[in-house]
Amino acid sequence: MPNLQNTAYDSPVDVLTEDQARDALAALAQDLSDANKAYHTDDAPKIDDATYDHLKRKNAEIEARFPHLKRADSPSDQVGARAADGFSKVAHEIKMLSLGNAFDDADVFDFDERIRKYLNITTADETLAYTAEPKIDGVSLALTYKNGALITAATRGDGEIGENVTANALTIQDIPQHIENAPELLEVRGEVYMSHADFAALNARQEATGGKTFANPRNAAAGSLRQLDSTITSERPLRFFAYAWGVLSSPLADTQFASIERLAALGFAINPLTKICKSPEALIAHYTDIAAARADLGYDIDGVVYKVDALAYQRRLGFRSTTPRWAIAHKFPAELAWTRLNAIDIQVGRTGALSPVARLQPVTVGGVVVSNATLHNEDYIAGIGGDGQPIRDGQDIRCGDMVQVYRAGDVIPKIAAVDISKRTQSKPYVFPDHCPECASPAIREDGDAVRRCTGGLICPAQAVERLKHFVSRAAFDIEGLGAKQVAYFFDDDTLPVKEPADIFTLKDRDETGFTKLENRDGFGKTSVKKLFQAIDEKRTIPLNRLLFSLGIRHLGESSAALIARHYGGWATLERALTTATIGDGDIWDYLLSIDGVGAVMATSLVMAFQNPAERASIDRLIAQLDVQDMPQVALSQSPVAGKTVVFTGTLEKMTRAEAKARAESHGAKVSGSVSAKTDILVAGPGAGSKATKAETLGVTVLDEDAWIALIGEA
Ligand code: IVH
Repeated sequence: MPNLQNTAYDSPVDVLTEDQARDALAALAQDLSDANKAYHTDDAPKIDDATYDHLKRKNAEIEARFPHLKRADSPSDQVGARAADGFSKVAHEIKMLSLGNAFDDADVFDFDERIRKYLNITTADETLAYTAEPKIDGVSLALTYKNGALITAATRGDGEIGENVTANALTIQDIPQHIENAPELLEVRGEVYMSHADFAALNARQEATGGKTFANPRNAAAGSLRQLDSTITSERPLRFFAYAWGVLSSPLADTQFASIERLAALGFAINPLTKICKSPEALIAHYTDIAAARADLGYDIDGVVYKVDALAYQRRLGFRSTTPRWAIAHKFPAELAWTRLNAIDIQVGRTGALSPVARLQPVTVGGVVVSNATLHNEDYIAGIGGDGQPIRDGQDIRCGDMVQVYRAGDVIPKIAAVDISKRTQSKPYVFPDHCPECASPAIREDGDAVRRCTGGLICPAQAVERLKHFVSRAAFDIEGLGAKQVAYFFDDDTLPVKEPADIFTLKDRDETGFTKLENRDGFGKTSVKKLFQAIDEKRTIPLNRLLFSLGIRHLGESSAALIARHYGGWATLERALTTATIGDGDIWDYLLSIDGVGAVMATSLVMAFQNPAERASIDRLIAQLDVQDMPQVALSQSPVAGKTVVFTGTLEKMTRAEAKARAESHGAKVSGSVSAKTDILVAGPGAGSKATKAETLGVTVLDEDAWIALIGEA
């Protein structure tokens, strides 16, 4: 830890004697070097950014006054040692996705049924083969080989952009540096992990040398892979299993299983428990076998991954926004632990929802210390489930109760049970009927399990949550302005940011106002300049992001994109939503004709644009921005890009869901009803009134084969 007690650190530089200055520079060199090591080498920062910046500034000031005392190892000469982005970035040509989860047998049967339905393989005697293999609990890595040579290794990052850890990957024994008889371009994907034995030995070594110990093998693998100094990685015993691929110049094989075998033939380690299973029953049987073998594998796994074996089917099934339709992770049951519920706090979210949070006596569950758990809503606390039926045998939850906590996957911890034999509180918990933040009434609408604050924009909790949403990754994603910073500006009365528009006026207010950002709370000259630059860069924003960023209830990222694509530009969208009448008229009908937009979402959208206070806030924001029409660059290749398509009648080559997903992947908009805006009607046998209406309107009508030929998939 830095010697923050060193009085020289806080004394004005101009009162230091030469001796004091020499001592201070020595201490600063040591402390800053320790801080760098903790941050970069150990993945465990010991001081916050503001303290780090303060020490660095102090060092520079002392050096400026006593230039002859500047040390050979002066921290001033270590350029950008603290840069958070120490690795260069790699854009994944094919996104690195995550997997949907199955938690029980029923979910596995549903998965199989969903896929069969999508592919129209509905008779039980038609087999559908899957692969089943352990889900390795490590960190995913993408390895790109060109002409057989490993050229890049990249972490998953946010799925689109990862970190370039090539130098580190080159030190991992399981990763071949050269491969033969491989496609000219081959991206191999898999998991970097650490075995139990290696993990125990590493922690023992770290302890002996006073280094950082790791909580579990996964953290150890992640921390070791993300070392800026690859000699440290080379001393860490990392392993690698290959289980997938990204870009390829030629296919590896026709099936998942054969492709993985091909990777094995090229020299990659593949998991020996990978097996072909031809029914959900067989998948579950293999899952049970793997669960039984789990304790003796020697490395951590957290479930079993099922993948459709035929790659032609995988291609047809495609992807949802973040997960493939053709794969699922069947997770092992969560670990459980008993602890005391100390208190119930109420958090107010962006849309006013009052969410009860359990504050727990900290307890370790599956290697992680848990001190909070979600309590969902007031019915849940009272022992009533989402379907109105009793849960936990109707037992309510009270402060002071002993509760059983579990974690499933990466989700927020939940409460599984309550032990009423240990109950001390005689009265049930009373859920507040007023907002704890702004005191406005909090009401429950009919059929809604959630109680909401009615304060809208006057509620500081809602306002700050909206701002956090506004700057989040899928919204404005302003570098250097995350949730923490907007909360800071929200509370700062000298340079306040109370609504999104205020972010864009911050620079002007800083320049013209009395109080400056510079020199306050960790903001230096450079960081202020960078922040304003980052804000300016986001003044130009695509319509879909803008719409999502407004934080309108029921409007998620993909619906915002869908609506933006349908309206194309801000002016058109704004006009429609301002003049729409809820439940009536052409504009309303058009909104509802967008596949994926229902009455609830549409109502919420129209209300946001027609509520005077909300609308004024949106208008103030728009005045600061240049909203881009929806880009259709990647899709312009396809003759159906940007066209509105309606499917009717029976489709014979594919299911309706598949037809819709494929049309959308070609940039078409799929609508449920025919109108003057429809470009193409795809009519199968039995098409009725829609076909007649299309003909009257002069809309192009195609049969299924003509449609498939048009999108070039025949
Ligand atoms: S397949 C498109 N197979 O789990 C699907 N993933 O929750 C690609 N993982 O990010 C993933 N073992 O890091 C696949 N046998 C396995 C896996 C596996 C571990 C990880 C992977 C992925 C995460 C998804």
